[in-house]
This record gives sequence, C-alpha cells and structure tokens, in this order.
Amino acid sequence: MRKKLVAGNWKMNTTADEAVKLAKEIKARLTGFNGAELLICPPYINLIPVHKVIEKSVIKLGSQDLYYEKSGAFTSGISGEMLKSAGCHYVIVGHSERRAIFGDTDELINKKLQAALGIGLIPILCIGEKLEDREAGLTEKVIESQLDGALMGFPTDWMSNMVIGYEPVWAIGTGKTATPEQAESSHKFIREKLTRDFGNQVADELTILYGGSVNSDNSDALIAENNIDGFLVGGASLKAESFEKIARSASK
Ligand code: 13P
Repeated sequence: MRKKLVAGNWKMNTTADEAVKLAKEIKARLTGFNGAELLICPPYINLIPVHKVIEKSVIKLGSQDLYYEKSGAFTSGISGEMLKSAGCHYVIVGHSERRAIFGDTDELINKKLQAALGIGLIPILCIGEKLEDREAGLTEKVIESQLDGALMGFPTDWMSNMVIGYEPVWAIGTGKTATPEQAESSHKFIREKLTRDFGNQVADELTILYGGSVNSDNSDALIAENNIDGFLVGGASLKAESFEKIARSASK
C-alpha cells in the first residue's frame, strides 16, 4: 500500500542544543500520532543527539545526504552504514541544493541511491525543474531525464524501497508554492513514467512527496490531490507547531 509520509528537511539549521529542543517539541506534539509516517532530517552532526530524543517515538530519523563508498579515505564523507548506526531509516538523495551548490550529478545520485538501498536505508530521491525549465515548457523533460539518470540500471524490486520527492526548484524557500494543479500534474507524470519503466504495482505503491514552500495554509489543498502522498518540508519543519499542523493535514 502507498504510505503517507511527512518529512522535515532541516537543511543547515540548528546547533546541537537547538536540534534537541526542536526534536523534543515535535515529539511532545505528536506523541502517539499514527496518521502519516513522520520523519525529521537534521544535519549530520545532530543525528545522534536527535535520535536519542525520538528513538522510542513515532518519529523516524533521516539524513540529508550520504556518500556512496563504504569507508576509507574520503575526507568528510559519511557512509550509509554510519547513518544506519546513528539510527537513520531514511536518507534524502539528490536534493536540488546538493545538485546546484555541491555539484551532485545524476551519475553520483545513482551511486548514492544504490549505496542507500544496499545498506537498507530508504532513499528519498529528489527531482524537480528550475524556473527557466518550466517557462520553456521543459518541466516533464527535466523530470524524465532526472529519473532516467538516477534510476539507470535499477531492477524493479529496488523500487519498492524508495520514495520520490518532487520539488520544483522555483518553489523551494521562495514562498511561491506550486498550485495543487501544477504539483498534481507533475506527480501524475512521474507515476505514469514509473508505470512504463517499472510496471503498475511499483508505480501505484510508490510514495511521491511534494516539496517547495509547503506550510500549514497550503497543505490541505495539496494533499487533496490524487498523486500527492505527503510532503518534504523545509522552512516550516523548523517550527514544531507548523510541522505538527502539516503532519495532521497530510493525515486527513
Ligand atoms: P522549503 O519548504 O523551505 O521551501 O524547502 C523545501 C525543501 O527543499 C525540502 O527539501
């Protein structure tokens, strides 16, 4: 069955103390919650202290990235095994900020996805077009090529352990969220492509999150769309109150 998921991507925010405080506030507000699956993704350095706060709760832990090698001379790299041992269930891969600022390519993303799946982490593969792509009518072309690159050579059974995050770059951190119709159109396109590439069952069961200026005022309308299964939330996940509201909205 397709599951609902609400994930908070804290990006490069929170000191150790702030991360623990925020995790405690989120936990307190969502104790016993069983609507959608809940996930928070703090910066690497705060994974372990946050895990201590949430380990016996309904909230799962995720990382914002990983490196694909298992171990060795990869200064500053963090492996999937390290993330697992820190308590992670999920890992975000291919976020547009990784692509644009740190130069992650489809080829690298493909390797990171393989590494995540190989160690039993659920990757959240992020894709999405830039404003100039959308304005040039290239949204679907970009999405298609990002999926082709990231998933190249993947057998069908790997796809049942993955989540996809559609995050139009122009909507990230801008307060300019995609309309429910725009988001649904891309989500539908993604699901149709996955149906062609991996079959009905995989596509039907795959959770596709929307991300890009999601807040507690626009989440109800977005989640009402057929192919939107939850959210990848940036800014609004840094406040326990708005994260809670979005989580509850996604569970209606
Ligand atoms: P905002 O919700 O701040 O727009 O960020 C979205 C995002 O990039 C989540 O990964």
